Amino acid sequence: MPDPGAPPDAPADLMEKVVGLCKRRGFIFPSAEIYGGFRSTYDYGPLGVNLLRNVKNAWWEAMVQRRDDVVGLDAAILSPPAVWEASGHLSNFTDPLVDCRSCHQRWRADKIDGVCPACGSTEFTQARAFNLMFKTHAGPVEDEGAVAYLRPETAQGMFTNFANVLQTTRKKPPFGIAQVGKSFRNEITPQNFVFRTREFEQMELEYFVPPAEAQHWFEYWLDERYRWYTGLGIPPSELRLRHHDADELAHYAVATADVEFLFPWGWDELEGVANRTDADLMAHARASGERLEYFDQPTGERYVPYVIEPAAGATRAMMAFLLSAYHEDEIGGEPRTVLRLHPRLAPYQIAVLPLSKKETLEPLAREVLASLQVHFMCDYDVTQSIGKRYRRQDEVGTPWCVTVDFDSIADRAVTVRDRDSTDQVRVPIDGLVEELRRRTDRA
Ligand code: GAP
Repeated sequence: MPDPGAPPDAPADLMEKVVGLCKRRGFIFPSAEIYGGFRSTYDYGPLGVNLLRNVKNAWWEAMVQRRDDVVGLDAAILSPPAVWEASGHLSNFTDPLVDCRSCHQRWRADKIDGVCPACGSTEFTQARAFNLMFKTHAGPVEDEGAVAYLRPETAQGMFTNFANVLQTTRKKPPFGIAQVGKSFRNEITPQNFVFRTREFEQMELEYFVPPAEAQHWFEYWLDERYRWYTGLGIPPSELRLRHHDADELAHYAVATADVEFLFPWGWDELEGVANRTDADLMAHARASGERLEYFDQPTGERYVPYVIEPAAGATRAMMAFLLSAYHEDEIGGEPRTVLRLHPRLAPYQIAVLPLSKKETLEPLAREVLASLQVHFMCDYDVTQSIGKRYRRQDEVGTPWCVTVDFDSIADRAVTVRDRDSTDQVRVPIDGLVEELRRRTDRA
């Protein structure tokens, strides 16, 4: 049986297959596994760290590098209660929590449809508000004065630094501050692999605009963000936009729309785009006594900008890219697993494979590897037959294998094999970097 909601050509048990591949090939490991694992936390292995880094770099390139209206920030993860008091997270960032009266498991009241998923009981305790922030103490004394929180979103760092960034960059609305980094939420029911975890990475933009332009920029960013995912290979059939009803809105937003992905369990949130109005800047201005507004010298106009916020999860996006890329097909009657990852995202863009282990091939293969490593993330593999090595690279999404054979020594050319078509062409070593760059740019 295919998973409910999975695309028609997706393999049955897509989720199990991708989770298995992640463990087997070194994308994602259960954290502290030698001690039995630790409650839905995960470590990103040698391939996963490359893929995750590529997702974040692609986001940074689109959102910061290629724009002159967005600047970056890397704010602290630990922050004082005053920030979360002002932002409303201390009182509002809660989930309704219930206990099953029969098996005593704890659930989010809004996620269980009136029946305990563990034992089927319909008897629960009254729902109570459970704050999702991780609380800790800064310094050696564990009293109220030392309380600190691990940020549950990167966004507040952009609001508390609004005046600093404005003064140092001389930006003028519409302009944005972007940040990529870890966030922490004490989720009651972390689930679905890295879809919902307690420690995760976000990629957020706070885009400050004149209030009258807020709706225009809300629609602009929704469109941009949808196109970012399709540009990196997720087909439109696996993506949709969904506008929130009024009763779904977070405490800070007047309008939100999600970019949703067709996960194996059905449509679910990949990223949210919200109109946060001037609520955050106003709240921090009130609480801190600082002026958090924009003063337009030529017109003498002074106003608090509205904020449009595209907020994505890096780890959740990585999972969507993996699920979407996973395919099973046949090559010459042989079944193969292939990750059709966009070349910009693939953990390795190139694998250099000397045809044989014979020492005569090694110096040239290493020369080719060294010239490619300047430009691409490369793997180098001399084990097993060439067919098996191609399939190992297909399974982790390497778009191109470069095979160095005995003719290469005489003709200074190598064979480039394409992951998706499996076509092979001979390319002179001298023009190899340019050829592979052309292919990456075309993808
Ligand atoms: N600053 C707004 C904000 O944080 P959000 O919808 O709560 O909004 C934004 O989070 C994105 O962060 C989500 O769309 C999702 O991709 C990711 N995210 C949120 N909670 C997560 C969790 N527990 N595990 C993994 N990713 C999460």
